[in-house]
Amino acid sequence: MQKIAFVTGATSGIGRELVLKMVREDITVIALGRSDEKIDQLIADTKSLLNKNRLFIVKGNLNDQEGVDKIAKEVLLILDKHKYELDYLVHVAGRVTSGYHLNNDQHEMTFAINHLAVVQLTHLLINRIKKSMRSRILIVSSQSHYRASINFNNLESKSFYSILRSYKRSKLYNVLFVKGFAQRFKEIPIFAIDPGLVQTKIGTKNTSKLASFIWSLRAKKGIQASDAAHHMFNVITQEAFDQQSGSYIRHGVNVSSNPITYDQENIDKLWDISLKMLDITDFLIKGEL
Ligand SMILES: NC(=O)c1ccc[n+]([C@@H]2O[C@H](COP(=O)([O-])OP(=O)(O)OC[C@H]3O[C@@H](n4cnc5c(N)ncnc54)[C@H](OP(=O)(O)O)[C@@H]3O)[C@@H](O)[C@H]2O)c1
Repeated sequence: MQKIAFVTGATSGIGRELVLKMVREDITVIALGRSDEKIDQLIADTKSLLNKNRLFIVKGNLNDQEGVDKIAKEVLLILDKHKYELDYLVHVAGRVTSGYHLNNDQHEMTFAINHLAVVQLTHLLINRIKKSMRSRILIVSSQSHYRASINFNNLESKSFYSILRSYKRSKLYNVLFVKGFAQRFKEIPIFAIDPGLVQTKIGTKNTSKLASFIWSLRAKKGIQASDAAHHMFNVITQEAFDQQSGSYIRHGVNVSSNPITYDQENIDKLWDISLKMLDITDFLIKGEL
């Protein structure tokens, strides 16, 4: 049976390696990219690997609600046209940002891309995700979330913005969202993924020269992106994870997340605030599941 995945952040680093792995394993992938050059490279690199499966490309940007909306519409068009249901929704796209920037919706950019876009995209695609213990939603969080605190009066780090504060908080929100979703939608297993330190260029893309230099040195100590993708692929395919929805998986192993991610008030409050920011009144479109 052909499996279908949608992967964001598919043109670099961990996401790109995951797409290559999935394609080799005969999964049909809808890949999100934002640069023509990188998209062309992904198409070229997967060409000889495709068998009965296919690679679809969606080009778009997760910066703001309008961008996410367009992406979801394109994914839905592909699913409708080919009568597919989604088996795997994998949120890999992420950003770390030196300066403080607001998007078109007046949300801080790291918060918007790393957290709000994940919530919105999951909401817009939920009716098309197969209701089965073998389906999966994965959200790439980070070990930096252990060092994050939550302040509902400054959720987006608009006051006292710093590159690390904003990033680690966004990754904390990923874990809280995973827990909130797992409690509400028991038929679709969801996981927060901690890939560990990985050799990618993430810290050089929207960062100052100094931050970029520090990241380049630090990243050398990390694992290969293909190893991180391998761990994620195991979470996607191994039966052992069927009953572990809501958990935090580090290097492929279920471990405890930051203690504040188990606080029910934090989980519910972040859920409610995020939906309100996105004007989502009911997470289930048309109320069906
Ligand atoms: N590297 C690490 O040590 C590490 C550790 C923990 C967690 N993570 C997380 O792992 C995930 C993947 O990161 P990575 O390390 O593989 O870095 P990466 O190579 O920079 O991958 C990030 C991906 O997100 C895409 N992206 C960023 N902003 C976007 C936007 N506005 N719209 C659409 N796509 C966007 C990028 O597109 P382009 O290809 O066009 O740049 C890229 O494909 C991130 O969520 C990151 O926070 C990484």
